[in-house]
Amino acid sequence: MSAEEDRKQAEKYAAGDILAILYRQHADITESLDRVSDSKGEERSANFAAATKFIKKHETAEQALIRPVIEKVDGGGETTDRNAEEKKADQAILALSKLDVDSTDFDSQFATLKSAVSEHAESEETIEFPIIEKARTEEQRIELGQQFLEAMAG
Ligand SMILES: [Fe+2]
Ligand SMILES: [Fe+2]
Repeated sequence: MSAEEDRKQAEKYAAGDILAILYRQHADITESLDRVSDSKGEERSANFAAATKFIKKHETAEQALIRPVIEKVDGGGETTDRNAEEKKADQAILALSKLDVDSTDFDSQFATLKSAVSEHAESEETIEFPIIEKARTEEQRIELGQQFLEAMAG
C-alpha cells in the first residue's frame, strides 16, 4: 500500500487506535525509505540511519505487543512468519550499514530491503490488522496504542 493509502486507512480509526498508529507508521516508513533512495552521500547516510532506527523501534514494539494478540487467535503460524521477516530485515539493515551508501551494492541491497519491508507491511495489514480489529474493542485498541507508543519511546 502506498503511504497515501496507508494514511487514508488510518483515518478510519480513532487517532489513538493501535490500527491508526500502525497504518500511519507504515506510511512514515515508506516515506523514510523513499528519502534514502532520493538522496546521496552524507544526507543519504543520515536518512538511512533515521529510517532504520524507526523501523527497528516499530518492529520491536510489534513483537512485544502485536504478536501476542495474533498468536492467541491463530496459534502462532503467522506470528512466526512475521517475526522471521523482521529478523531478516534486521540482518539486511546490518549488512547495508557496512556499505558505502553511494555504491551500486548499496543500491541493489537497499532496493531488496525496501520491497521486503513493503511486502511485510502488506502482510501485517491483510493478516494481522483484521485479527486485531476483531479480537479487541476500540477501547482496548486505544489502550494498546498507548502501550505501543510507550514501548517505542522506551
Ligand atoms: Fe513488522
Ligand atoms: Fe508494521
